[in-house]
Amino acid sequence: MAEGLRKGLTSYGDAGFSLFLRKAFIKAMGYSDDALNRPIVGITNTYSDYNPCHGNVPQIIEAVKRGVMLSGAMPFVFPTISIAESFAHPTSMYLRNLMAMDTEEMIRAQPMDSVVVIGGCDKTLPAQIMAALSADLPTVVIPVGPMVVGHHKGEVLGACTDCRRLWGKYRAGEIDDVEIEAVNGRLAPSVGTCMVMGTASTMACVTEALGLSLPMSATIPAPHAERFRSAEASGRVAAAMAKSKGPKPSEILTPSSFRNAQIVMQAIGGSTNGLIHLTAIANRSPHKIDLQAFDKLGREVPVLVDLKPSGEHYMEHFHHAGGVPKLMAQLGDLIDLDAKTITGQTLREVVEDAEDVPGQDAIRPRTNPIKSEGAMAILHGNLAPRGAVIKQSAASPKLLQHTGRAVVFESVEDMTLRVDDPALDVSADDVLVLRNAGPKGAPGMPEAGYLPIPKKLARTGVKDMVRISDARMSGTAFGTIVLHITPESAVGGPLALVRNGDMIRLDVARRSIDLLVDAAELEKRRAALAPAMTPGWAKRGYAHLFNETILQADEGCDFDFMRAKGK
Ligand code: FES
Repeated sequence: MAEGLRKGLTSYGDAGFSLFLRKAFIKAMGYSDDALNRPIVGITNTYSDYNPCHGNVPQIIEAVKRGVMLSGAMPFVFPTISIAESFAHPTSMYLRNLMAMDTEEMIRAQPMDSVVVIGGCDKTLPAQIMAALSADLPTVVIPVGPMVVGHHKGEVLGACTDCRRLWGKYRAGEIDDVEIEAVNGRLAPSVGTCMVMGTASTMACVTEALGLSLPMSATIPAPHAERFRSAEASGRVAAAMAKSKGPKPSEILTPSSFRNAQIVMQAIGGSTNGLIHLTAIANRSPHKIDLQAFDKLGREVPVLVDLKPSGEHYMEHFHHAGGVPKLMAQLGDLIDLDAKTITGQTLREVVEDAEDVPGQDAIRPRTNPIKSEGAMAILHGNLAPRGAVIKQSAASPKLLQHTGRAVVFESVEDMTLRVDDPALDVSADDVLVLRNAGPKGAPGMPEAGYLPIPKKLARTGVKDMVRISDARMSGTAFGTIVLHITPESAVGGPLALVRNGDMIRLDVARRSIDLLVDAAELEKRRAALAPAMTPGWAKRGYAHLFNETILQADEGCDFDFMRAKGK
């Protein structure tokens, strides 16, 4: 099998000439024949001035290159798309599949024997792992690492659970313009990903549990020296993989490793977005994430990591407490410790090396969990025939069984315009409903599921209400919020049939979400729905591809033709 520079030659109809030409051009960079004859480690560069979460990527790349060269291989850095959560219009989710396609094709197109993908901001690690699995080249994943915490008036702050909490206080008139500006400068005190258990942290922990990154790499803070030593070590592992031609992602990602990832996701109080991403990753393989099985695991697996928004601490505290290896040690026999990792170690060996930190309280034992059940529950009912999800660990316990009157918003724009209207007919016991915010509807399934508490209620001290939608929610958010209602309203899901004043019943213990309207009336409403048309935004380009091929949340929101089995 061809390797190094000889891999994947450009087609000119003469392989000898193709290699001759390739070498002639690359020598313009000043490389020697010795360098060019080495196994090649490709390294993705997702640095962007628009992406502060990836601000340490240049230093990580330098460290990876050092590790690769110390091991006798040759590093080649190449750019791919970078997606930053707050700089992606309409949403970062809209671009995840584009990044996955870009990364996959550049791994395939360019000669490399292994690849190091460096990512972190919410959609980037999922996109890179989807790509790695489809390209199936030996891959090392390096998360960029979480930010360190901020401080304000003696309080520890973190992006973005505290962004939302303090913005809520500002909306309620509890803090003023001057203070909210001061907070704005303190929420993100360093480069790196959000330091609570949001999607970025969830996916970094899931990546480690899957065995695709080095032990502890999920939690090392982005600015710490240890982050760069870990990157150097990752470079060494990637060089070894380039020489041995394995293991490939398809050899690491087995039913056991996907099960381990789901257990870890439940035990960390993981982001609901993580479930969509893990589903999309699994669909790039012959394996599947079964929502019922995920829910069942949630009943057996307690939340052990005490991190915001489900708990109190931040990622650096999780790291200093022993990180994912220590968590897996606490999970014990729930984890399949025979699962393999990229280093050749099993998880059993990883867990044996886990540090014991006396007095730490960020990782609890199973005898003293944060919550006795896992972070997420899967709901079904006449409102969500193909499922919906709630992060019960970050919800108000008293609202987990609740029946209330629907207050419906037609779209994100409608909600933005009307939610604070003093004339809005709403009370604290109502259920706020947002529709047309799913994968197709918005498009890109915005993180709008965290509907703000109407100002007039917030000012009377209302902190939480039942909110339901076909949207997503940031993993950093807190509240009794039902998300990912599938099928979404834009494709005719039952959410499209809800009217103001209908009664909605949420019963998380029974895993149900129902619209208390009889079937005949619902059929009448369905018959009156306008037929679906191609929206104006989807007439050309990537938007067209997205609108035509995007799958629903229960299938991971990948494009239908990108799954392992194709279309
Ligand atoms: Fe990038 Fe939160 S904004 S990880």
